[in-house]
Amino acid sequence: MGNRLKDKIALVTGAGSGLGRAAALHLAREGARVAGTDIDKAAAEATAREIAEEIGGETGNDRAIAIDHDVADPGAWAAAMEATQKTFGGLHILINNAGISRHGDMESTTYEDFQLLMDIDLNSVFLGCQAAIPVMRESGGGSIVNISSVAGIMGNPNTVAYGTAKAGVRYLTKCVALDCAQKGYGIRCNSVHPTYIRTPLIEQFLHEDGALDRLNRMIPLGRICETEDVTHPIVFLASDESAMMTGAEVVIDGGLSCGYSPRV
Ligand SMILES: NC(=O)c1ccc[n+]([C@@H]2O[C@H](COP(=O)([O-])OP(=O)(O)OC[C@H]3O[C@@H](n4cnc5c(N)ncnc54)[C@H](O)[C@@H]3O)[C@@H](O)[C@H]2O)c1
Repeated sequence: MGNRLKDKIALVTGAGSGLGRAAALHLAREGARVAGTDIDKAAAEATAREIAEEIGGETGNDRAIAIDHDVADPGAWAAAMEATQKTFGGLHILINNAGISRHGDMESTTYEDFQLLMDIDLNSVFLGCQAAIPVMRESGGGSIVNISSVAGIMGNPNTVAYGTAKAGVRYLTKCVALDCAQKGYGIRCNSVHPTYIRTPLIEQFLHEDGALDRLNRMIPLGRICETEDVTHPIVFLASDESAMMTGAEVVIDGGLSCGYSPRV
């Protein structure tokens, strides 16, 4: 247990699974009080219980709460902020993590899927930043961490919708960072760009024999990410240790985006 986030209040979206669950736990281990939100409320509640069991305290009051929240619904953001403020009294950290993935090239991606990915992976981040800024200002400042992907930096013909949404998150992050800096709000905003992480989201790529080995070989460092590879940078960006970082892209891809893969 640490105290790098002592006295901070965090909201993590998609906290019921994968990276969001791991980030919520890691932030709590560093002293933050955590509102974990998810469209799957039971999963968010399980994460809140895990935090309470590990850190001590009770769910629903001093360390962790779960909020039923569809990040693509503008009205739901106001309710999530209100619940967090009511329970913990403010907000200092927002991790815009909830997301979905769909494979598809230009010919196979339907417009419905394209719009769905924009709504859940990009528009939600706009809504989250917009909802958090006034609450963070009232709370004395804060740090927003937007979970993009290496797919938001590198082109890929098979992730047309996902990559476009994640590239939008990269750009939006810089706009939020500069807007808050220009206005002197004391709010930083950075994006995180992982390669594949071992979470339920990538199970769709792992059905064939040897699929994980193939993914591992694509990465110059020889393996895909574990959630902790990503939550350590998230904690750093959330904390005051990164006080001079805003609008930055933190790439966690084992060298993939350097452009040369020594293993394939
Ligand atoms: N797993 C990877 O390889 C990988 C790589 C790079 C970036 N990412 C990004 O990391 C983030 C987390 O992904 P993960 O791998 O943990 O996925 P995951 O599927 O394990 O978890 C995603 C969580 O988001 C929730 N969610 C989905 N739609 C939602 C909505 N509309 N509102 C609220 N919650 C919703 C789900 O219920 C789930 O709990 C995503 O933004 C993803 O794009 C993942």
